[in-house]
Amino acid sequence: MNKYQLKCRACGHVLADMKQWFDNEQKCDACGHKFVDVEYFQDAQNVKQIIAESKAQSLFDYFDFLPLNQRENIVSSGEGVIPVEHWSFLDQFALNQYGINCKVHVYRNDLSPGTGTFKDVAASLAASVLKENGIKQFAIASTGNIATAFAYYLAKAGISLAVFIPQDALMSNEAEISAYGQKVFRVEGDYAYAKKIATEYANKNKILISGGNIDPMRVEAKKTMVFEWIRQMESFPTVYIQALSGGTGPIAIDKALNDLKNTNFLPAYPRYIMVQPSACNPMTLGWERAKELGFPDGWKNDYPIIDSPVTKVPTLATGNPATYPIIADLVHKSKGEMLTFDESKIVDVARLIAFEKQVRIGPASTIAMGGFFEALKFGHIKNGDVVLINLGEGVRRAPELMEEMVYTTERVSSVEQCRVPEMQLYKDQLWRKVL
Ligand SMILES: Cc1ncc(COP(=O)(O)O)c(C=O)c1O
Ligand SMILES: [Zn+2]
Repeated sequence: MNKYQLKCRACGHVLADMKQWFDNEQKCDACGHKFVDVEYFQDAQNVKQIIAESKAQSLFDYFDFLPLNQRENIVSSGEGVIPVEHWSFLDQFALNQYGINCKVHVYRNDLSPGTGTFKDVAASLAASVLKENGIKQFAIASTGNIATAFAYYLAKAGISLAVFIPQDALMSNEAEISAYGQKVFRVEGDYAYAKKIATEYANKNKILISGGNIDPMRVEAKKTMVFEWIRQMESFPTVYIQALSGGTGPIAIDKALNDLKNTNFLPAYPRYIMVQPSACNPMTLGWERAKELGFPDGWKNDYPIIDSPVTKVPTLATGNPATYPIIADLVHKSKGEMLTFDESKIVDVARLIAFEKQVRIGPASTIAMGGFFEALKFGHIKNGDVVLINLGEGVRRAPELMEEMVYTTERVSSVEQCRVPEMQLYKDQLWRKVL
């Protein structure tokens, strides 16, 4: 029996299931709109019971609230139940440096068992839903992480994938996609152009293409992070910090909180602090302009387009953010902020975190972490805040960054030159660079 339906955000028309959605080329069959909400027939109050009984096996612990009908179609590596950790050295820093009393947590997507990024949950659910609906071919355009995750999970499901990456996508992503036997098309152009070619390919060959940041499979999968925070955290975050590319993260949190609105455990809405890298920050630029002008009529449609952005964080290289009106609205509603982090400091942030916590974070994660320092500096973190920073990826994704992490090496030719090290001496130097 079907346990969900899809409802069009524009006209309210109902689609019976994912099959109808795919048959209709992932659009509302009444008005052609592409943004739909998955609605479940079960009472959302039951999420509380699932959380209480959770064995923390995977996101499919929340099977009843995912658009999949048969458990036999689950394609999983145990993703979606990664830890939330309290990093008290960041509480201490906020207190010592700014007199702010807050608790800072990180969401350890670097530990995700599929491909080590926060895209694993989305790809795992997508592979499962595609399998359930008998789909054998799929296409996706991506700056890297989402394609890698889709390549891995669709390969697990025996589904062929064509991946369109922009010309500057990281070699390590390309290698991983290729290693799983999935097809890579490296497109001579930027991400926007790769998306265009991918769409043409999908139309020409009548192949389904990933619906991007509003794709219900991605949103429903990522929605479960809210359930996980409720399960794992003493109190729900009042501030959510994430590196921003297209914004599936904030859309998914909003969906989860909306689903829980009639329950007796609805958490308060967190302030979204979204962070973009300095060489590709069109959403932040749009936001800053709107703020300056006092959010005038039509502000959500006023944002710049950055053609062929050249950034040290290619995973965040969305220069033409079609989702800006949606994300800007959510950030505004949450009383949050959009910030820029200076990408010349990403290696410093990565070194600092590896020094303090022995965790090696990837480029996109350094932007989120850097955003926390910016947010503190500019007064966006308040006394009493419970901060959650989404560490979206580990360093495995970026060997280039890994190489740049080297800073303690001295070249020597005799033992006389080898002074006995004192690691604490690095501490001040590392902090100074980040501030
Ligand atoms: C590690 C990481 N963080 C953040 C993002 C941005 O995700 P979104 O803007 O879709 O929520 C991405 C996107 O590729 C990512 O890979
Ligand atoms: Zn419609």
